[in-house]
Amino acid sequence: MDKFDVVIIGAGPGGYVAAIRAAQLGLKTAIIDKEKELGGTCLRIGCIPSKALLTSSDHFHFISKEAAKHGILVENSRVDLPAMLSRKDKVVKALTGGVRQLMKSNKVALFEGTAMINAPGKVSVKTGNGETQELESENIIIATGSVPAELPFARFDGTTIVSSTEALSFAEPPAKLLVIGAGAIGLELGSVWNRLGSEVTVLEFLPRIAVGFDLELSNLLQRALTAQGMKFHLETKVTGVKAENGHAVVSATKGGEALTFEADKVLVAVGRRAFADGVIGQGVGVELDDRKRVKVDRHFQTNVEHIYAIGDVIAGPMLAHKAEEEGIACIENIAGKAGHVNYDAIPGIIYTNPELAGVGLTEDQAKEKGMNVRIGKFPFRANGRALANEDAEGLVKFVADAETDRILGAHVLQHAASELIAEATSVIEFGGSSEDLGRTCHAHPTLSEAVKEAALAVEKRAIHIVNR
Ligand code: NAI
Repeated sequence: MDKFDVVIIGAGPGGYVAAIRAAQLGLKTAIIDKEKELGGTCLRIGCIPSKALLTSSDHFHFISKEAAKHGILVENSRVDLPAMLSRKDKVVKALTGGVRQLMKSNKVALFEGTAMINAPGKVSVKTGNGETQELESENIIIATGSVPAELPFARFDGTTIVSSTEALSFAEPPAKLLVIGAGAIGLELGSVWNRLGSEVTVLEFLPRIAVGFDLELSNLLQRALTAQGMKFHLETKVTGVKAENGHAVVSATKGGEALTFEADKVLVAVGRRAFADGVIGQGVGVELDDRKRVKVDRHFQTNVEHIYAIGDVIAGPMLAHKAEEEGIACIENIAGKAGHVNYDAIPGIIYTNPELAGVGLTEDQAKEKGMNVRIGKFPFRANGRALANEDAEGLVKFVADAETDRILGAHVLQHAASELIAEATSVIEFGGSSEDLGRTCHAHPTLSEAVKEAALAVEKRAIHIVNR
């Protein structure tokens, strides 16, 4: 029987990063995944393929709608969807292959099959050909992630009622795509197919899109996406979906009024659920919470000693980078170091155009906590580089503590928001103030100058705009 210091179940961003950190710290490590391609949801059917399609479709949008503004005339631009999809698949293949290579170079033992914890320290792996391998390990980490949540009246059928997985590979743009849920998945994949020619309608239960992000910036994003052709119905509760012969009829209610929508495809993007099905054997006694997430303490240990859990399978935002940080902290705790995750400095991003990014508290969240805050804002229409780029939509917004000036939150709406948010995240991680950021020299002309200016605006001293 193989014996390890750590066995990690699940090779997504949480699991595989934990495996590398464990190897770096000299722990004898194994990782198990039921899929041939490593990297989990993020690399195979999530973050990476969606970003590949978002970039390709954004290029098409630029060529067909924006290029003329730069004096570039392109006639008859068309999409070769099979080529676009195969480029996406190539990117996925390169990255999942890269993870396999990383496991090898770090001397992490890789087992392909379905894992089950039979007892503390004991894991069995059932391979595709029905064989079972037994592993022994001092420590076990559950990193089995999440799966798309289903609506009870709209079960996935893989063709008409679909999850994000199928929406990454439609053979052609559906004439009418109906999206249920205006969260990250609905907005990103809705954007992709809208740019590629589908008529996209988004139904959202709440009175706003992008819940969890700054409300003002979310409203501006909704305006931008509406201008791009997406239709939104907010405060709309979907009550039924009937799919027949490749066509769907969706019933909903909005303010007491009954609505009906017709669609060729329905993308259900109403969240994801923690996935630990079949991983914890009977009698092991690992506790789950009311949402079937594995319960852990601040060291990521479950109620059973030496069994840990990280990533989407535990509470918190379902984000790859959150899982990675937890994987590293969990391993460092196992290795006797003080692993720690700062949950106040985890950025969230929706990769639409413009992108919406946020880290820390929104203005509303800070006020709900009774905190006294000052706000600094700066629009990209006053930023030279954004104007030179013909990409001046959006703004930067800081939320700072009114007494100490410490930055509590930062929010960016811009084509490159996903990159711009990193600077604010670092400053928050270091406990910095808006003045620290505002006094830092930023290269000119760059989009990041808008970040500096928004920080200066907290003290009403932005340079390139009238401060109010
Ligand atoms: P989400 O939780 O972000 O959004 C789901 C939306 O659906 C919510 O606004 C909710 O109010 C709405 N909803 C729920 N039931 C509904 C109903 N019956 N009718 C109408 N609306 C309804 O979930 P999403 O977008 O599916 O994403 C799942 C997870 O994956 C999230 O945790 C998200 O953060 C993560 N993710 C992150 C990405 C990123 O970081 N860019 C990209 C994709 C997913």
